[in-house]
Amino acid sequence: MAEFLDIVCRRRSVRSFTEEALTSDEVVALMTPALMAPTSKGKQAVEFVLADDRETLERLSQAKPRFGTLIAGAALAIVVCGRMDISDVWIEDASVAATMLLLSAEEQGLGACWVQIRERLQEDGSPAALAVRDILQLTPEQEPLCVIAVGRKAKETKPHALDELRWERVIVKS
Ligand SMILES: Cc1cc2nc3c(=O)[nH]c(=O)nc-3n(C[C@H](O)[C@H](O)[C@H](O)COP(=O)(O)O)c2cc1C
Repeated sequence: MAEFLDIVCRRRSVRSFTEEALTSDEVVALMTPALMAPTSKGKQAVEFVLADDRETLERLSQAKPRFGTLIAGAALAIVVCGRMDISDVWIEDASVAATMLLLSAEEQGLGACWVQIRERLQEDGSPAALAVRDILQLTPEQEPLCVIAVGRKAKETKPHALDELRWERVIVKS
C-alpha cells in the first residue's frame, strides 16, 4: 500500500479517461474511505449517488457547462449529496467525504476530478443542482455538492512537488 504522503503528492485533477469501466471491487474500495469519513456529531449527513451509464454521464456533463464536460468521458460519476435535514453543516460533511474520494481514487491508481455543482449555474442561468436533481431523481433532502468524476487515467499527471509548497500560508502566532 502506498504511503499517505505519496498519495497526496500524486493526486492531481484528472480530466481525461480511458473507456475502460471500473470493476465492482474497485467501486467498493473507492467508496469505503468516503463512508468512513468524519462527520459533524457523527450524523453522517452525506449520501452518494452513483451513475455509470453513458447517457447519464453525458447528461450530467451538460448540467455544468465547460468545467463539467469531463464527466462525459468518465467511467463513474459520484454525486456527493448533503442531507440538509440531518445537519446544518452538511457542506462540511460532504466536502470531507468528497476529498476522501479523490484520495481513494489515487490510492487505487485511478484518476478523479471534483466538479462543483453547488452555487454553479447552467447555460440558461438556472442552478446546476436543479439539473443534477432532475437527471438523478434526487429526493428533496439530497442537496448535491459536487460530482466526483472517476476513471482510468488517459495520461499520467505530474505530481505536486514538496519544495513548491507555499509555507507562508501557514501563519504561526506565538
Ligand atoms: C471545491 C472545488 C471545486 C472544483 N470544481 C471544479 C470543476 O467544476 N471543474 C474542474 O474541472 N475542476 C474543478 N476543481 C478542481 C480544481 O480545478 C483543481 O483541484 C485545482 O486546479 C488544483 O489542481 P490539482 O487538483 O491537479 O492539484 C475543483 C476543486 C475543488 C476543491
